[in-house]
Amino acid sequence: MPQLMSVAPCEIVVFGGTGDLAMRKLMPALYHRDRDGQLTPDSRVIAVSRAGLDDAGYRDKVDSELRRFIPELIHEPDFLARFLQRLHHITVDVAEHSTWDELRTLLADGKDHVRVFYLACAPQLFGPTCVGLQANGLVTDNSRVVLEKPLGHDLVSARRINDEVGAVFAEEQIFRIDHYLGKETVQNLLVLRFANSLLEPLWNSGAIDHVQITVAETIGVGGRGDYYDGSGAIRDMVQNHLLQLLCLVAMEPPSRLDREAVRDEKLKILQALSPLTIGDVERCVVRGQYTVGLVEGAPVPSYQDEVDGSTSTTETFVALKVEVQNWRWSGVPFYLRTGKRLDRRASEIVVQFRPVPHSIFPGIKDSISPNALVLRLQPDEGVRLHLMAKEPGPGGVRLRPVHLNLSFAETFKSRLPDAYERLLMDVVRGNPTLFMRRDEVEAAWAWVEPILAALAASIDSPRRYAAGTGGPAAAIALIERDGRTWYEEISE
Ligand code: BG6
Repeated sequence: MPQLMSVAPCEIVVFGGTGDLAMRKLMPALYHRDRDGQLTPDSRVIAVSRAGLDDAGYRDKVDSELRRFIPELIHEPDFLARFLQRLHHITVDVAEHSTWDELRTLLADGKDHVRVFYLACAPQLFGPTCVGLQANGLVTDNSRVVLEKPLGHDLVSARRINDEVGAVFAEEQIFRIDHYLGKETVQNLLVLRFANSLLEPLWNSGAIDHVQITVAETIGVGGRGDYYDGSGAIRDMVQNHLLQLLCLVAMEPPSRLDREAVRDEKLKILQALSPLTIGDVERCVVRGQYTVGLVEGAPVPSYQDEVDGSTSTTETFVALKVEVQNWRWSGVPFYLRTGKRLDRRASEIVVQFRPVPHSIFPGIKDSISPNALVLRLQPDEGVRLHLMAKEPGPGGVRLRPVHLNLSFAETFKSRLPDAYERLLMDVVRGNPTLFMRRDEVEAAWAWVEPILAALAASIDSPRRYAAGTGGPAAAIALIERDGRTWYEEISE
């Protein structure tokens, strides 16, 4: 059984409490934490929206949504009933002072509780919501605010949000969420790197040829077209998730697992990213957009059809070659790619080691595959080390690539918690180590912004790729030009 660290009594107030994120991620995560006994009996979840529901109506809604996302609930009626009793719904129009009374009254009952204000609403409401919280005397020393992405559209808007929220909450009370940091394998990357002595001596340009970070999705933009079309893959995935993964791979060992030490090291990597000029963008960035195709055997519409038959040039795929300009990583490219409606759902980090310098096996140097360490974020979370081995039997030495496989599900035989479970409990505990600090977010925007500007000024549109394929051919050319290839899973 995993060891549970209980958290202090808390009020989790979710603005946007009837929205997609609340239903798909936050309520299931809170249910699981409650089910495992991590929430104290007097902790409550208060959804805030303009939906005009009463508590009973909201509980009914969450009941049916939870059953969709957690099929095993059918066997857990008592846990479900207990969780539903924690839920309340309040209708607030954040701009209308008079509509805050009910929330004020409800929160007065738990004065000493930790207050988590989770802003799962549109970013333009972050500032006004914080102002409303302050004006109504709801921000205590024991309060924290959680900001969901998108955290701005560019550096200026990110700074504006940070200023508005920072006018009400101190930086240590602000939790900017990047749910990738809560994923089990991502946390395991820290353990793998810093709780084993084997890797660190090799973790540099002397032994590593290059690193690949892939987040491939089979889903399209679905009902999120309005948001996504103004955003695209670079803002939606690269500026945050992929850069955060890159930071964890590339950062120097922090002196301890401490909120500032870890974030200081990540920031140094963001600041060491080699800036991409307009010329670099042409060579090092490939954008794509999906057209109609077959995904998992089913026909799917094109991106343009999904966003109302528009002629949008928003990218749904991007591949980039990035360099970290510091002593450790000099000359080691990091290839990043992410896309929607691809042929597989797979998120992985591949650390590709250098080839052997010399083969003692006559005539077979070329068939010696370099070692690779693959961290699979999803699905089938785990770590895989690719090695060469001799095929058994007589008849000379025949070499074959094989792998050592550590599947977390098989090894630990327990349910892998969703990222939001860990992160929500960290907020209540007041531990921001796995959240982005203001300077990190702004450094990430500062690096991404010239790329966005160069692409906006370019006369080229994103390259079309059929849904259900591996993305545009130019992304393959991007890495093959350097004499390398994208990692393909090898079967046993
Ligand atoms: C979100 C993006 O942050 O991450 C989505 O906005 C994307 O577009 C999602 O689909 C991917 O998260 P996960 O956990 O499913 O890999």
